[in-house]
Order: sequence, then structure tokens, then C-alpha cells
Amino acid sequence: MALRNYDIKDPFLAGLGKQRIEWASREMPVVKLIGERFAREKPLKGIRIAACLHITTETGNLALALKAAGADLIFCASNPLSTQDDVAAALVEDGIPVNAIKGESEDIYYKHISTALDHKPQMTVDDGADLVTTLHTKRTELISNVIGGTEETTTGVIRLRSMEKAGKLKYPIIAVNDAKTKYLFDNRYGTGQSTIDGITRATNILWAGKKVVVCGYGWCGHGIAMRAKGLGSHIIVAEVEPVRALEAVMDGFQVMPLIDAARVGDIFITVTGDKSVIDRGHFQVMKDGAILANSGHFNVEINIPALEGLSKNKREVRPYVDEYTLADGCRLYLLGEGRLINLAAAEGHPASVMDMSFADQALCLEHLAKNKGKLGARVYPVPEEIDKEVARLKLQAMGIRIDTLTPEQKRYLTSWEEGT
Ligand SMILES: NC(=O)c1ccc[n+]([C@@H]2O[C@H](COP(=O)([O-])OP(=O)(O)OC[C@H]3O[C@@H](n4cnc5c(N)ncnc54)[C@H](O)[C@@H]3O)[C@@H](O)[C@H]2O)c1
Repeated sequence: MALRNYDIKDPFLAGLGKQRIEWASREMPVVKLIGERFAREKPLKGIRIAACLHITTETGNLALALKAAGADLIFCASNPLSTQDDVAAALVEDGIPVNAIKGESEDIYYKHISTALDHKPQMTVDDGADLVTTLHTKRTELISNVIGGTEETTTGVIRLRSMEKAGKLKYPIIAVNDAKTKYLFDNRYGTGQSTIDGITRATNILWAGKKVVVCGYGWCGHGIAMRAKGLGSHIIVAEVEPVRALEAVMDGFQVMPLIDAARVGDIFITVTGDKSVIDRGHFQVMKDGAILANSGHFNVEINIPALEGLSKNKREVRPYVDEYTLADGCRLYLLGEGRLINLAAAEGHPASVMDMSFADQALCLEHLAKNKGKLGARVYPVPEEIDKEVARLKLQAMGIRIDTLTPEQKRYLTSWEEGT
């Protein structure tokens, strides 16, 4: 099919992209199963979908499953640095328009979102809510076409809930991030492993013996701390929520305010979804050689303008490693321009966890199509049956069987009469 509405780096990368998408598919049995059913049942037949996601091999597999379901798709990137150009080329060759180029400027990033919206989507798939907020602010004439949407990440869900609260959200969106089969695995094990992978690929540092400061002990923070500990690092957690700070203490980590951690840390990793978490005052007390990385959604967690303001010199010393020299000669190393390092310098989450996140995505889109016109303009949780079905299919694919409740146990667990 001759596509017009795409913009990618190089169509000749398609062969490599296809091979890599196929490799990821080996670890995505649940998406594969769903795709096979979708090919028979066509639950998204003719539905125009605009998807703003990291263009990775795993997203490639989701795209093929949605195409098999009959959807009329267009893709754009959810981050300027996360696109895998070979995957973009492979999808275009498969007749799926993609607008995404690794390293694109912010202007082009938004131009690509705008092209995706020109598709007049009836469904949106978003990761961070840039597509949805652009639709709600700059392309409002298109909103009446939309049946519903899905949101992939914590930061996007926070933005959408805020839109709902302010009465600004105009169609139903399912918070895929909040499914247990998403955040317990993708955010924790996916971000944990791939963040370490991104930092290692960018720097080739040895983790053993390093003091690693994890800012934010949410699901992503849990994963990063757990994996860095496994590599022999000493973990310090900085938090603002008392329960999560307490949890970090009892998980065996040091907990302290970031200004204290800033003096001793070797590697700083932010995963809060918040802004200016590492700020001017922290840079000023850091040790010479400290490494700064972010794995939260936007590049605002490390206050880069403040770092630039403090620096007398900046140079790229390796791909994805910028050296900032402060006035006193202290050198700080910012990785991946402060963008999510697991996607900037590595390949993002391993396919096995994206299998569950994207199975949730696919089943939620089917759910939206089935419930067209029945849902209000709200942020909805993933239906429990979908969450359980994804876990069941994943266990089945892994060849793992579990027990079932006896009728007596079922009765007992829903009754109150029996006690001591
Ligand atoms: N890199 C990736 O591939 C990837 C994957 C999933 C999620 N994310 C993103 O990572 C971020 C975190 O996601 P999560 O699911 O762990 O969220 P979460 O809400 O479970 O955890 C965030 C934690 O950060 C803490 N926090 C907020 N402001 C802080 C501050 N100033 N200092 C210290 N701690 C602070 C919060 O109290 C909370 O405990 C989000 O932006 C999310 O979208 C990235």
C-alpha cells in the first residue's frame, strides 16, 4: 500500500526492524494469542486509531495485532528520543503509517502528533497524554469523532485525572497503567531492568560498590532499587510520601532528604513523575563525577536549565553522556538529555513485560469498541476481568498452573458466620 501520511528516518531500515519485531514476538505470547483471535473476529474493523507510543519492537507487535483486528491505524512517538527507526520503517512497509524519528526536535514531535490527529481518530492510545491534551486544546473540532481512548503510563493518568476533575476531559479513557498486570510488572520489573540497562549502555560503569540514589520509591523506584541492589550497589532512597519512605527503610535501604544524599551519591536516578526533583542546590553539593539519569516520563525531573546556568562548560563525552563543568571545576554527567534513559540509551522494557501491558491495551480497545456510547467522559479503571484474563494467559503461556478454590473455600471466603 502506498502510504503518504508518514515521516520516518529511513525506509531501508525496514528489514532490520522486521527481524527485531519478530524477535520480540517470541516473548509476547499473550499479544500473539489476542492478535490471532482479533484476526478471526475483527473487533476493531474500520475504527480509526491514533496511537502515541514509544516506537519500539514491542509496539510493533501491538500494531500488528491491532491491524489484524481491522483497525485503521496511525502512529506517532510519545517521546522525541525513544523511537527505534528500524521499527518505524518496518511498520510503514507493513502499511501502518508512522510519524516518528529518533532525536526529533520538540517542534517536529508536535508536528507528528498533529499528523496523527489529521487521521481523525475514533480512538486514541496515549503514553503520557500529549496526544490527548493536544486534541483537547488545539484540535477540538475532532473530539466529536472519538469513542474513547487508553493511557499507558502513570504521568498520563495523573494528567487525565486532573483534566477530568477540571471538567475538561471530553471522552472516556481507560487507565491501562493502573491494571495490576501493568504496573506490578512493567513499571517495577520493566523499568527496573531497562533503566539499569540504559545507564550501563551509556556509561559502562560498574554498579558494585556505587552509592545509587533513587528519587521516588513508587513502582518504578522499587524496581530500580531492587535491581541496583542485586548488582551490589548501596541504595539511598529520597521520597516525599511517608508510607513509601517507610517501605524503603524496611526493604533495607537508607532513606534521607535528597540534599543529604546529594553529597554522597555516585549515581542519581529520578522516577517520580514530578518536576525539578534534582535542583540547583543539589547540583552545587554533588561529588565530582556524579552521574544523573531520569527514568520518569518527562525530561523535567532533573532541572536542566538550572544545571546549564551553573555550568561554565558542556561537552558530549560519549553518546548520551553530557559532561557539565561547574564554576568550581566539579563535573556532573547528565545521561540522555534527562529523557527516560531506558528508552533513550537502551531498548526500553523487555518484551515479556510489554506483552502484558499491550495485552491490556488491546483488550481495553476492544472493550471500548463494544461499549461505544455507553461510557461517560471519565477516566476508567481497566475492567477486572481483563486484568485477570491477561494474568491467566501469561501464566498459561509460561506453562505455570495454579490452584483453584474448593466450593467450601469459596463459601468460606464470602461468608462471615465462621470464626474462632
Ligand atoms: N521509564 C519508563 O519506561 C517508565 C515506565 C513506567 C512509568 N514511567 C514513569 O515513571 C514515573 C514514576 O512512575 P511510578 O509508576 O513509579 O509512579 P508512582 O506514583 O508509583 O511513584 C512515584 C513516587 O515518586 C514520589 N515523589 C514525587 N515527588 C517526589 C519528590 N519531589 N522527591 C521524591 N519523591 C517524589 C511519590 O511520592 C511516589 O512515591 C512516571 O512519570 C511514569 O509515567 C516510566
